[in-house]
Amino acid sequence: MAIDSTQHKRPVRSYVIRSGRLTDSQRKAIDEHWHKHVFAFEGKPIDIDSLFVQKAPINLEIGFGMGASLLAMAQQQPEQNFLGIEVHKPGVGKMLHEIEANGLSNVKLICHDAKDIVEFCIAKESLDRILILFPDPWPKKRHHKRRLIQADFAELLATKLRQGGFIHLATDWEPYAKHMMVVLQACPNLKNKNGSNEFWNNPERPPTKFEVRGKTLGNNVSDLLFVKED
Ligand SMILES: C[S@@+](CC[C@H](N)C(=O)[O-])C[C@H]1O[C@@H](n2cnc3c(N)ncnc32)[C@H](O)[C@@H]1O
Repeated sequence: MAIDSTQHKRPVRSYVIRSGRLTDSQRKAIDEHWHKHVFAFEGKPIDIDSLFVQKAPINLEIGFGMGASLLAMAQQQPEQNFLGIEVHKPGVGKMLHEIEANGLSNVKLICHDAKDIVEFCIAKESLDRILILFPDPWPKKRHHKRRLIQADFAELLATKLRQGGFIHLATDWEPYAKHMMVVLQACPNLKNKNGSNEFWNNPERPPTKFEVRGKTLGNNVSDLLFVKED
């Protein structure tokens, strides 16, 4: 039977699954601790509060990579809850190892496309902060459609924030920083905390692995902070 190609259109992904090898400790953490800390995508809403021991503000980090910032934030702010989404298995394995090694109960993970999670699993007005730090810049013009920060996704993210909640973006790719600024400023209900067209000069966040690498190459880092307001 012929397959109707129009019904099997591949979604545009913001990532490519890299065939990075798992270290022994990442593999061990995945084998032993996945079921305790990683939540499966089931295409239906998640009661995020029920994932955590404490009821506390929810911070969502999308694309946490190897987890340097997620781990540091969870350790520095034990009174807050952190949900991390990442598709790269070694990063999830590394974070699982750290969660166990540090006895953290305020950080949980999802290993699935964040676009699906945000669209289908996260309730409106349920998040206090969304962080997307150094998303893949997709510098070639023909790849711009793969960038995570697009008008429709930004608007969707804004619906998931509580009033007064924050969205914090960072990149070391200047054209992407400008694009982020345009997209977020056009987003209804989001206001630039630093004033129109202004970046955040002294961002409050831990460094990330990708950022450190970019800085050694001499790249400038831009942070953006927007607040949800009616
Ligand atoms: C350039 S890396 C930055 C990682 C980390 N934030 C850092 O700064 O070191 C971007 C990360 O986002 C992840 N990513 C991209 N699109 C994603 C998506 N739709 N859902 C989940 N993770 C995604 C990639 O797997 C990758 O690890």
